[in-house]
Amino acid sequence: MKILILGGDGYLGWPTAMYLSKKGHAVTVLDNFVKKKIENEQNIRPLFPQVPLRERVNLWNKNINNPIKFIMGDMLNHRLLYDTLGEIKPDSIIHYAEQPSAPYSMRGRESCYFTQYNNVMGTINLLFAMKKHCPEAHLIKLGTMGEYGTPNIDIEEGWLNIEHKGRKDRVMYPKKPGSFYHLSKVHDSNNIEFACRIWGFKCTDLNQGVVYGVDTNETKLDEKFSTSFHYDEVFGTVINRFICQSVIGRDLTVYGNGSQTRGYLNIIDTIKCIEIAANNPAKKSEFRVFNQYTEVLSINGIAKKVIKASSLNGIKINHTNIKNPRVEEEDHYYKPSNTSLISLGLNPIKINDDVLTEMIKKVLKHKDRILINTVMPNIKWQK
Ligand SMILES: NC(=O)c1ccc[n+]([C@@H]2O[C@H](COP(=O)([O-])OP(=O)(O)OC[C@H]3O[C@@H](n4cnc5c(N)ncnc54)[C@H](O)[C@@H]3O)[C@@H](O)[C@H]2O)c1
Repeated sequence: MKILILGGDGYLGWPTAMYLSKKGHAVTVLDNFVKKKIENEQNIRPLFPQVPLRERVNLWNKNINNPIKFIMGDMLNHRLLYDTLGEIKPDSIIHYAEQPSAPYSMRGRESCYFTQYNNVMGTINLLFAMKKHCPEAHLIKLGTMGEYGTPNIDIEEGWLNIEHKGRKDRVMYPKKPGSFYHLSKVHDSNNIEFACRIWGFKCTDLNQGVVYGVDTNETKLDEKFSTSFHYDEVFGTVINRFICQSVIGRDLTVYGNGSQTRGYLNIIDTIKCIEIAANNPAKKSEFRVFNQYTEVLSINGIAKKVIKASSLNGIKINHTNIKNPRVEEEDHYYKPSNTSLISLGLNPIKINDDVLTEMIKKVLKHKDRILINTVMPNIKWQK
């Protein structure tokens, strides 16, 4: 397949590009490095030193007989997107290129505005570029489980059959997101569903859970292939953050009472899910939604697992509850469905002592780079 990966420098985009290139697909990655700009602005940096994407791609291309192509470009530049799609005419487009941090979107007006403008308008540009140059392409868009929030009913995969006053219909599942970032994903989902209805697009919206992990088979090939792994309050997701706290002997900071429950998945499974979606495209006019997570856990449950794995590795730590910087329900019902990807062949990796030990060992090698002052939450949902 000809595959275009938007956001190919990111935590998920780069490992996906290597994996799909190794599988023989013709991969092009596009990125504008806005994540690096935010890192500089917020005084944060990925844990593993990053080789510039162009250099990484050159190194990959020297060693693998199936070159990745790299385009530096911004999704907000519609001309560039039109040209790129016109030239490549991709079979699949994997769209990761968004500002992914909920806290960043809650910092204030400017960050909120940037997040929604970048994410929603970038996707609008993509939809119009697809309409002109490749309406038959399969769009695989990264959404988030956070779009649903924590409703008091079971969460279905994107759609809900309802009966109201004796009549039935199938409607998009009602959303109750918890940040302006998550809202940007809801707006995207609505815009893409509309494009499928009016232009006959094929789209898979992957409502992804929280991703954790340091490595994939491809990042392990060379230190220079390391991915953009964060542990800080801006881009760090909870398991990645806990592992870094553990490695430097700090207590794990649990927001609120720690009962908040979410879906999680390993970075290797993210890539497998993308591959499964690409190999089994949505049908014409279909807006297909998969809930992309493999395990449901509370923050307390995660803390317990990280504390146990740390102790097996000779690290004695505990957890501390701190005031929750977010506005979110702590004790809540949570029962999402995730059968679609499993039924298409996903064989999930589970969070266990071995998986966490592998993370601890890799992070230990870079523990001197951990900036501990970037971990505690300074951004609050309410001032
Ligand atoms: N990591 C997670 O836990 C997680 C969970 C659910 C959903 N997601 C979604 O998956 C996608 C990828 O996440 P990630 O963790 O790899 O994020 P990331 O920030 O590491 O990667 C996103 C990449 O997109 C690029 N980008 C952003 N805006 C762009 C634009 N306008 N033009 C070109 N490039 C642009 C950034 O520079 C960055 O390299 C995001 O859409 C995110 O919302 C991630």
